[in-house]
Amino acid sequence: MDNLRKDFPFLKNNPELAYFDNAATSLKPQQVIDEVSYYYEHLGANIHRGDYKLSHKVSGLFDQTRIDVACFINADSNEVVFTSGASESLNLVAMGFASQALSKGDVILLNETEHASNLLPWYALAQQFDFVIEFIETDEHGEIQVDNLKKALHDKVKLVSIAHASNVLGYIRDIQTMSHLVHENQAYLVVDGAQTVGHIEVDVKALDVDFFAFSAHKMLGPTGVGVLYGKAELLKQTQPIFFGGGSNVDFDTKGTMTLKEAPYKFESGTPNIEGVLGFRKAIEYYNEKGISTIESLNSQLYEYAYLHLSKLDNVVIYNPNSDLSIISFNVKGIFAQDVAQYLDSFDIAVRTGEHCAKAFDPTMKKSKTIRASLLFYNTKEEVDRLVEALRDITLEKCIDLYI
Ligand SMILES: Cc1ncc(COP(=O)(O)O)c(C=O)c1O
Repeated sequence: MDNLRKDFPFLKNNPELAYFDNAATSLKPQQVIDEVSYYYEHLGANIHRGDYKLSHKVSGLFDQTRIDVACFINADSNEVVFTSGASESLNLVAMGFASQALSKGDVILLNETEHASNLLPWYALAQQFDFVIEFIETDEHGEIQVDNLKKALHDKVKLVSIAHASNVLGYIRDIQTMSHLVHENQAYLVVDGAQTVGHIEVDVKALDVDFFAFSAHKMLGPTGVGVLYGKAELLKQTQPIFFGGGSNVDFDTKGTMTLKEAPYKFESGTPNIEGVLGFRKAIEYYNEKGISTIESLNSQLYEYAYLHLSKLDNVVIYNPNSDLSIISFNVKGIFAQDVAQYLDSFDIAVRTGEHCAKAFDPTMKKSKTIRASLLFYNTKEEVDRLVEALRDITLEKCIDLYI
């Protein structure tokens, strides 16, 4: 684990900090940072526009990233659309695809554990087009099982959108079985993979999902870059939500325009070129280290953290046996944000609140929670610091911080 730590300059530059907010955004390895700088220092040009060597070179690297991303998730490269992040990807499916494919009164099936980015686009769409939103019930652990989905499906359900894993609980859902059920019901399946790509192997063909959205910045890549995977025949039916340069073949003064094929018809304007190039290096990093090695390092660390945190009498954990290295918890009798402030005074960074999943309350008590999300570059020593700080925490000590 230690030799991977040296790949992350942030860790060298913040030696005191235990960074446990990886589900919000991951740190970036040197290769990714270097590639972003290299673009500005050496390449500079726009893509797919210039008739000179440098522009061709940048275009080649950009196009290669699409191929690399496609291989990484087992898609075809024309099924990979670059966006600004998972949020934009989900908005594109809602506004560009579902707006066309569904009819008034059709049901979109969601669940309360989802991130805002996988609820609000559907709410906005339903309001605009008179679709109906329904929710799959959660089980006693706040999770969605195949049986919950089975119960919620009916004739009017035409689309189901669900996260591969919730960013609050980190349980991986059985998407393959779910996609079978959804397709039997003659509906489409959209999956928010923001928390899983880079953590586990993702094969969109094996999962048989219709659309799959994720963000580069949660998997060692730059911010402002995301992906929408869509089955080729469905991307053909999807309308762009942005229009402009780069995505058209021709247009005239009569208002006629001819758009390029997918994925290019969705990518109007100058993209985040340096971000996409950096993303290629993030994928290269995973390929070099091996996704199964990364997954096993993550889970070893999680198991260590869970073992020690679960022994603390003052700590309540809401997601035992999480599949991702996410621990959602509270300290009895102390408000979550006060706990976070206290941990911050020991240079331990965690996230508190509703984690952008405001419709979901894993505590069942309308309380906020604390989320420690670990990644392979964290250490057992950092986890020990978290455990020791929580062992000693009292309400008085938290109040003292404000005085
Ligand atoms: C499950 C989930 N979906 C969607 C998103 C949105 O990702 P982004 O902010 O990169 O668009 C997040 C980010 O936290 C997430 O955790």
